[in-house]
Amino acid sequence: MERTKVLLVGVGGFGAGYVRELLEGAAGQRAQVVGVVDPYAKQSPAYPLLERAGTPIHETVEAFYAQGEAELAVIATPIQFHEHQACFCLRAGSHVLLEKPMAATVEQAKAILAARDASGRKLAVGFQWCYDRTMLRLKADVAAGLYGAPLDLKAMALWPRDRAYYRRGLGWAGKRLDASGAPIYDNVVSNATAHYLFNMLWLPGADFWGQGLENLRALCYRANEIETFDTVVMEGRNEAGARLWYAASHAAGRDYNQNPVFEYRFEEACLRFGALGETGERLTAWKGDRLVKDYGPSSLNDLTKLGVVLDHVAGRGPLPCPGEAALKHVEAMEALRLACPEAPFFPPERVEEADGFKRVEGLGAKLVELYRQEAFPESL
Ligand SMILES: NC(=O)c1ccc[n+]([C@@H]2O[C@H](COP(=O)([O-])OP(=O)(O)OC[C@H]3O[C@@H](n4cnc5c(N)ncnc54)[C@H](O)[C@@H]3O)[C@@H](O)[C@H]2O)c1
Repeated sequence: MERTKVLLVGVGGFGAGYVRELLEGAAGQRAQVVGVVDPYAKQSPAYPLLERAGTPIHETVEAFYAQGEAELAVIATPIQFHEHQACFCLRAGSHVLLEKPMAATVEQAKAILAARDASGRKLAVGFQWCYDRTMLRLKADVAAGLYGAPLDLKAMALWPRDRAYYRRGLGWAGKRLDASGAPIYDNVVSNATAHYLFNMLWLPGADFWGQGLENLRALCYRANEIETFDTVVMEGRNEAGARLWYAASHAAGRDYNQNPVFEYRFEEACLRFGALGETGERLTAWKGDRLVKDYGPSSLNDLTKLGVVLDHVAGRGPLPCPGEAALKHVEAMEALRLACPEAPFFPPERVEEADGFKRVEGLGAKLVELYRQEAFPESL
């Protein structure tokens, strides 16, 4: 079988996983890395693999396409580069798998969609939960109307992140703009916990395009020395009128390291992922206290998406995370910026720091209680 030619754009951080999957994992049987674009590739933990494979490394997408071609470009770079790189790769004739968030602004995301349409190539976005087989089984049941209409959806993720997280790479985390003025707007729900807000937008619809968030209100705060925010409680309605409630924080403390948890109440059942205080990762459907369907464990964090996208560009199988769905997350982020133009710092007397982690006194307990009650507070 002819292997698909893949260009990897951004190979440190999350991109290192793609290098391993393609050079050491099963994906290497079906795809061949024909080049890398990353000006700092040597700093990647996966660099020894690239060196051993003799993969050509370039500093820009322009330099790669001046001498080579790729059927698929996988882009895992900081957010400020997504629009330019995705548009360039599409126009150069590659399909694109673009890491989430799709872009920093709605205007950029729409420019990527326009480049896709003009090129006739495919665009997939890397919200990996959409590609997970267990999640797709649940999505199919929801789309078939098995659970009726969605009524109330809530989700929460409390992941401690330390100073090193905010300082990694080019130092783009938690920034609004980069030094050249390019928008980034990186925050707790545009980036690290984006998957769990996105899932609420994507799961209820009948197709893979998802439903946008409307009537948003939000509280945003920061404990870390960042320009955006590391803590959010937000609620709104989706296009079908269901209520969405979401909370996330990087500053609730390491004793509140709550993996994502959700409860989506539909007319006929309540869909659950995990439970408060647990790390269980099963997707289940309940009627009252009765378990009506156990979908099984659902992986939050693997690279199944790469195989699904390789299949799709080869004309086999659907594309569960198209740009139209990811645009709805970018639109929600833009609405969030309007709702929270300037996030206040938590009062310094509530913030303590240990081993580089900022922790806000009482925040974890408060968020857990709010999640239980699905309540929107006056303040955090
Ligand atoms: N799907 C997921 O679960 C997941 C997880 C983590 C990160 N991500 C996404 O991946 C992207 C990168 O995040 P990260 O945490 O790996 O960032 P990072 O800063 O740790 O790594 C970014 C990589 O891009 C490279 N890079 C910087 N400028 C570049 C340029 N102009 N051209 C090419 N490469 C360049 C850097 O050298 C580095 O190797 C973001 O969009 C992020 O949201 C997705």
